[in-house]
Amino acid sequence: MEIIIAKNAGFCFGVKRAIKLAFDTAKDYGKDVYTLGPIIHNPQVVKKLAEEGVNAVESSNEVSNGVVILRSHGVTPKVIEDINKNGNRIIDATCPFVKKAQRYATQLKDEGYQIIIVGDEKHPEVKSIIGYAGEGVIVTETGEGISELVRNKKVGIISQTTQSSANLLKVIDESLKSAREVKILNTICDATSIRQEEAQEIARDVDLMLVVGGRNSANTTRLAAICKEELDKVYHIEVADEINEEWFRGVNRVGITAGASTPDWIIEEIVHKLGAVNEKMEQNTIRRC
Ligand code: F3S
Repeated sequence: MEIIIAKNAGFCFGVKRAIKLAFDTAKDYGKDVYTLGPIIHNPQVVKKLAEEGVNAVESSNEVSNGVVILRSHGVTPKVIEDINKNGNRIIDATCPFVKKAQRYATQLKDEGYQIIIVGDEKHPEVKSIIGYAGEGVIVTETGEGISELVRNKKVGIISQTTQSSANLLKVIDESLKSAREVKILNTICDATSIRQEEAQEIARDVDLMLVVGGRNSANTTRLAAICKEELDKVYHIEVADEINEEWFRGVNRVGITAGASTPDWIIEEIVHKLGAVNEKMEQNTIRRC
């Protein structure tokens, strides 16, 4: 059985940086270290961090006189104010690409643009950017119905870093129908699209695809959906223990990809387990002969 691992599987630059900062902070401070929300959508990493003394809290009001790590999605200026008010030290692990989107939001607001954010309004990153864009911001994923909202206005468009360029183009198209001026600041991060294209290519070429990552991770679920478009045997798993050797009967080529919040050690465990499955199946084959 041949195993093909996607080159860009697993942590993106921003997540890698955030995790490193969290473990370093645990070492430096030892106790009273918190993240606002889980640092990434991966229960195994969150558990490891908890063992090092870093726990997730839901609100900045839950911590005082401690150390608060901001995760890669970033937070609003109001949340930063609250953390400071409670006497906490901030370790900022906001991804630099998200920071750029936050900076652009402030810039467009100061220049008097009607801001449109292409993204999912419930996503923490978008919530953080809204905090910088101020009141009256429009959030949309497809641009549906916005041409009426921006008639004769000067419009500034930014985007959630993980949005597709197809969605950005739809919103630009809709805005151009009625806006007086349209300014676009491209804040899409290509780590996501590169990973998705690579997964799709591998899925076309294998008999079975393993997509590794937290079940609550939107980008992992999306990866699995993309692979599903190419072949039936796609399994979204979190850990090696979920692998069922029955899946691999008659399979010659296996592809592996992983979401942005999946650490290398989980991928390595899966490769290791596949090696054991492979060995067992070869032995079975010999016995049958
Ligand atoms: Fe940052 Fe891009 Fe990852 S925005 S958190 S490097 S997906």
